[in-house]
Amino acid sequence: MSDDADAVQARITAFWNVLASGYNTADNVAAPGSSEYTAWLETVRSLLPETPSDVLDVGTGTGFVAQMAAELGHRVTGVDLAEGMLESAQDRIERAGLDVSLLVGDAVRPPFPPASFDVVISRSVIWTLRELETAFRSWQTLLRPGGRVVAIYGLGTGPMDESPAQESAEKPMGLFQRHYTAETRNALSAMRLQDHSLPIRMAQRAGLVDVTVSSLELVRGWETSPGSDLPHALVGHRLIS
Ligand SMILES: C[S@@+](CC[C@H](N)C(=O)[O-])C[C@H]1O[C@@H](n2cnc3c(N)ncnc32)[C@H](O)[C@@H]1O
Repeated sequence: MSDDADAVQARITAFWNVLASGYNTADNVAAPGSSEYTAWLETVRSLLPETPSDVLDVGTGTGFVAQMAAELGHRVTGVDLAEGMLESAQDRIERAGLDVSLLVGDAVRPPFPPASFDVVISRSVIWTLRELETAFRSWQTLLRPGGRVVAIYGLGTGPMDESPAQESAEKPMGLFQRHYTAETRNALSAMRLQDHSLPIRMAQRAGLVDVTVSSLELVRGWETSPGSDLPHALVGHRLIS
């Protein structure tokens, strides 16, 4: 990472470490057993292979997607740079009686050999990712032939300051702005997407094929990028040969 990228990432990681203990609210993740959880579980099921697969959840945070993928019978690894988020993920996975490998790792260049996974998935991550095209290239390289990248995100069309992320007790006013400074925001190419053309183009330039974006109607109403309320899933595949 360059010094500039290091500084940007350090601010992002610090933000999520501060937020970690308060992240598991109904704004961010659905409680296991709730109807919202069932809706997310069915959504994740529809995006993953039917047969048990090796799944990498990049920017796993408190392990929401990792938990669901493990419940669906997949072998799951989660990486994140915020150790506080990973501690919360460990707690979630243990309470659920599941087995997920959780490691500190950069979603832009996850620390695994090529062709290690069948799926690289993320939820609510690409908006806060620097070097997004490099990330797509890394994810493509990590896939086995026929594997898929799944990126769940929203179009962030609302004004930043109206995001509920800045208004609850767990997320005091100013915290977001102090970490997501102008320099940080400038490094995040998908922070305020108006349409899907940029992530589609980056996925295709990374070598992924059959790239599609669909709206996730079952989980309409969830914010997966600042200001968005309709999650979408970009799915792209690694060529079989
Ligand atoms: C909005 S949270 C989403 C967490 C989780 N995926 C979910 O669905 O609840 C964004 C997460 O991305 C992580 N993150 C941001 N940049 C990262 C990077 N370069 N490498 C790994 N994790 C990163 C943050 O630490 C945070 O846990």
